[in-house]
Amino acid sequence: MATGKGFKGKSGRSQATDITQGFRGIAIFLFSLSGVINVLALTGSIYMLQIYDRALTSGSVPTLLALSLLAVGLYLFQGIFDIIRSQVLVRVGGRLDRKIAPMAHRVSIDMPRFGFSTSEALERGRDVDTVRSFLGSQGPVALFDLPWMPLYVLFVYMLHPYLGALTLGGVVVLTLLTIATELMTRGRAAEAHKAAIVRNQIADSNARNAEVIKAMGFAGRAVARFTRANAEHLSLQTGTSDVSGTLGAISRVLRMLLQSAILGLGAFLTINGDLSAGAIIAASVASTRALAPVDLAIGNWKNVVQARSAWRRLKETAIALGKAPEPMELPAPTRSLKVEKLTVAAPASGRVLLSEADLQLEAGQALGVIGPSGGGKTTLVRAITGIWPSLRGSVRLDDAELSQWRDEFLGCHIGYLPQEVALLDGTIGENICRFDPDAEPRAIVDAARAAGVHEMIVRLPDGYHTQLGSQGMALSAGQRQRVGLARALYGNPFLVVMDEPNSNLDAEGEAALTTAIVAIRARGGIAVVVAHRPSALSAVDLVAVVQNGKVTAFGPKNTIVQTPPQQEMENPAKTDRPARSRIKARVSA
Ligand SMILES: Nc1ncnc2c1ncn2[C@@H]1O[C@H](COP(=O)(O)OP(=O)(O)OP(=O)(O)O)[C@@H](O)[C@H]1O
Ligand SMILES: [Mg+2]
Repeated sequence: MATGKGFKGKSGRSQATDITQGFRGIAIFLFSLSGVINVLALTGSIYMLQIYDRALTSGSVPTLLALSLLAVGLYLFQGIFDIIRSQVLVRVGGRLDRKIAPMAHRVSIDMPRFGFSTSEALERGRDVDTVRSFLGSQGPVALFDLPWMPLYVLFVYMLHPYLGALTLGGVVVLTLLTIATELMTRGRAAEAHKAAIVRNQIADSNARNAEVIKAMGFAGRAVARFTRANAEHLSLQTGTSDVSGTLGAISRVLRMLLQSAILGLGAFLTINGDLSAGAIIAASVASTRALAPVDLAIGNWKNVVQARSAWRRLKETAIALGKAPEPMELPAPTRSLKVEKLTVAAPASGRVLLSEADLQLEAGQALGVIGPSGGGKTTLVRAITGIWPSLRGSVRLDDAELSQWRDEFLGCHIGYLPQEVALLDGTIGENICRFDPDAEPRAIVDAARAAGVHEMIVRLPDGYHTQLGSQGMALSAGQRQRVGLARALYGNPFLVVMDEPNSNLDAEGEAALTTAIVAIRARGGIAVVVAHRPSALSAVDLVAVVQNGKVTAFGPKNTIVQTPPQQEMENPAKTDRPARSRIKARVSA
């Protein structure tokens, strides 16, 4: 399991308390309301006491009637307060959800950068659901009632000290049982949570690779892999449920035992003339009521534990978000891109993938990045676009390090076309304008034109409104790459980074790409192009060679690549394999 060391921040205390802000008052209100409900819940006991000791002994029907009316009234109030309490709890859940769900989702977008898997990241969103549904369940009711238990013990004690002592003994035993449940389920519940993540990861990966699984007929094995992970998760779940189920049953039996013991002891005391008959019943009812929340808490313990760990993770989430201070507004970048002694490590393992890279580009320049597979080209562009944080060294736009820019603002000045283009679930138009609700149609069309994809889009039945489905699967790989290019070019960003932009392109697409690079340079932008096929390099003036995690050469194109790009352009079939074969001997040495 990924550990994501860099994820937790140190200075986020204020944010962490922020998520509970405004809820403390409500908690105090609910606590007081629970007090009133618990006082009212003594109605039953007092009614019995009065019936036996007053109405029956006096034989007065009017007294009986008056007592009954009073009891009905009190029950009614108890009911109303109970309804209010549960409604407030449900609304607290809703309010909390509205407040923290966007934050949790935001963090889940950010988490993969810190080495968490997608399933782990999505789990943050589910944590919000867990907490909300817990608040709507019987769990919190039990937790709010628990502190009022002494009230009943006191009531029974006032009837007779022996009975009070017996009830107190029951309370202590059942509380110990609750603690035992906690200790025995805590570790298991955490393990079950991890197992659930592993299982979801496999399910996710199988679903994403459905085509490959179908074509090569290993659905059976894929299902078997899932089944194993599922069985592991189930057995851990069963373990937790068994513990809380067993202890729940024990607590219920103990409660009944105690109820009978109270009756027995009460009878004994009555025979000895120390207690009235009404007090026996009243004590029995009150002691049962005292122990009900313990019973409820043990029965709901699994949910309590789940909600608590979800809550802890959400707090951690808030800390992670609270880490970075909001950067100051800077003017839009217009001059340079500098990469200085940049060292980048893999988020999950911390393994250094690129070390000590130095590059410098001025406005109007374009850099081609070449080198063998696995050399570190994608790693370099991930660091340049700020997707992966740098371990050491810096990436600077107009001399300001990436971290000094506000994410959203910087995003408007960066275009990025990833190596594996996945589009978001939305329309083509929304994808190109990056879901900007105020996007100008004109700017969207301009970007599509610049990527040479406008004609293709308007030929589709719904044009720019074509729904792409998840991952943009409604388009071919080449079409996706060109829509991805349009998205990178949208709004004429200063820095456009393209990772193998021509891997799926036909000749026409490659020509559009070259035109786009020329246009970026002409308007004073900077382009960075990773390429295996030299045709993509025809419009660049600088070339960097990245191999074995190092930039082994950087300089003007003609000093690094031997073959004139013009010739390569004319002969794309022959030059399909990398320019690296033609890298000058002095470079690879
Ligand atoms: N997410 C990741 N976590 C850990 N290691 C990674 C990750 N992505 C890539 N690597 C490793 O980093 C090294 C460089 O990978 P990178 O993707 O930068 O290569 P590349 O030059 O872009 O290759 P290609 O031409 O095949 O795209 C490889 O050894 C790879 O195993
Ligand atoms: Mg790559």
